[in-house]
Amino acid sequence: MKTYLPWSADLALGIPEIDNQHQLLVAMINRIYDALIHKAPREEAGCLLQELVDYTAVHFALEESLFRITDYPGYDTHKALHEHLKQQVMDTHRRFADGQMNLDLQLMAFLRSWLEDHINGEDRAYVPHMMNTGIRLKDDSRGWLERFLNSMGRKAIA
Ligand SMILES: [Fe+2]
Ligand SMILES: [Fe+2]
Repeated sequence: MKTYLPWSADLALGIPEIDNQHQLLVAMINRIYDALIHKAPREEAGCLLQELVDYTAVHFALEESLFRITDYPGYDTHKALHEHLKQQVMDTHRRFADGQMNLDLQLMAFLRSWLEDHINGEDRAYVPHMMNTGIRLKDDSRGWLERFLNSMGRKAIA
């Protein structure tokens, strides 16, 4: 079956822990598409949208904590944008749950650009800053990001 939003090098930022989280968001959007194709019960699609809402909050919180500990100058702007994006996906879920909106290709196109535009726009813009903070000091040693994630309790974000 066709994957709606295939993961590709175009979406990768080159920071493995962040790319893993972005891949999970992509996988969630693909599951929502599968639910559309298979005409899954409305309730099931609603659960998938709720999962996307929840994991979006986790991922954004992780990025924002990285911005704080690295003194990212774009913190305020990026955080405000996250709030806006969170609101958009929450509204989508609510309207779907209320029956004001159906799972269709228009909704899929919205979710695709909602994620892709952010990754390739504002997220890609923080990569040079993160790289400068020594996120990967040596190829053969674990970067501080991985140690940080482990110290937060990996299960919470996996
Ligand atoms: Fe992101
Ligand atoms: Fe972001």
